Amino acid sequence: MTTDISPQDILDISYRGIRNYLTHRPLALSLEVTLSCNCNCRHCDLGGMIKDEKQITPDDYAKLTQQLKPPVVQISGGEPLLRKDIVEIVAAIKNGRGSPYLILVTNGALLNESLYLQLHNAGVNQLSISLDFPDERHDDFRRHRGLYKHLSNTIPSLAKIGYHDILLNTAITKANYNELIPIANTATNWGVSVSYSAYTPLRTGDKSYSINDAEALKLLRNNIYKLIELKKYSNCITNSDTVLLNTVKFFEQGYMPGCKAGISFFVVMPDGSFIPCSLHRHKFSNQKDMINNYSRTNKCGACWVSIRSYTDRSLLSLLKDMPVYTKRLWALRKGYLSNKNNKSP
Ligand SMILES: C[S@@+](CC[C@H](N)C(=O)[O-])C[C@H]1O[C@@H](n2cnc3c(N)ncnc32)[C@H](O)[C@@H]1O
Repeated sequence: MTTDISPQDILDISYRGIRNYLTHRPLALSLEVTLSCNCNCRHCDLGGMIKDEKQITPDDYAKLTQQLKPPVVQISGGEPLLRKDIVEIVAAIKNGRGSPYLILVTNGALLNESLYLQLHNAGVNQLSISLDFPDERHDDFRRHRGLYKHLSNTIPSLAKIGYHDILLNTAITKANYNELIPIANTATNWGVSVSYSAYTPLRTGDKSYSINDAEALKLLRNNIYKLIELKKYSNCITNSDTVLLNTVKFFEQGYMPGCKAGISFFVVMPDGSFIPCSLHRHKFSNQKDMINNYSRTNKCGACWVSIRSYTDRSLLSLLKDMPVYTKRLWALRKGYLSNKNNKSP
């Protein structure tokens, strides 16, 4: 198995995206393979180990993805690297024609070169490693001592292998909205890219990490403009301008209407049941029931997390950003995600 993206893969993923959009099948599926986690993040409701968790098998994941045919699958949790069979899960999802673009989201605490290579060889296209601060404040936020040091030692050496498949992901909060440029610089120094999303209080009920006062919103808007400017000189930021500007809009309005959880995207729980999103955990046994009993009447607009910001759009807006994502897939194939001209603004 190889993660090389062929021109055929790029066409397949784009075709499946348009087809699933039109037929109300998911553009992205998030597989929460365990809810156990070895961090206890300040912005998250998960943390700690779950005893005797009911977990479906790699074969079940293969069947599920073949049935739903999402163009993008995200493996998340909890902490997915806690699953002993994580490499088998990846291989099972990537086995067969028309396999999805596969993202694995991790806090990176258990990451090492051997596991990285096994995941890459099994078919991970993008390893998304969460980073909330460009220094040891990350340890305090994640309540995991030594995590930043581990990431700063491990990620640059994995990036040197040259697969260009590592991306940092940063949830923007009141605590780190002034660190967006330093985080982009860290990504560049480590030889990886970065994607930003927005904090939602829906997980913990804690509104103190929301950005809602005029002064902070002004600074956030400035920082987002700086990121958009930086994108002209560097390939390290993967969000489209639209997604970045909508992130500011989400914080300014305090909500983003029109959530399509259950339709454009949804989550598969460790036991194989379907839930619309990580923030609304009503369980369903199939997508039709979820659409009829949740999505059709859903009025929630209280998050702008990555999976929503990337998928929850009009067809026109998705098509408008298609060149951005095709360019990124092409860059992955060519293996050049480093600075465009090594120029800085
Ligand atoms: C729930 S974690 C699971 C995967 C893995 N354990 C990790 O930390 O990356 C997935 C992502 O959700 C983000 N996240 C957690 N709580 C959030 C919140 N309240 N709002 C927005 N993003 C959140 C994390 O920062 C992380 O990037």
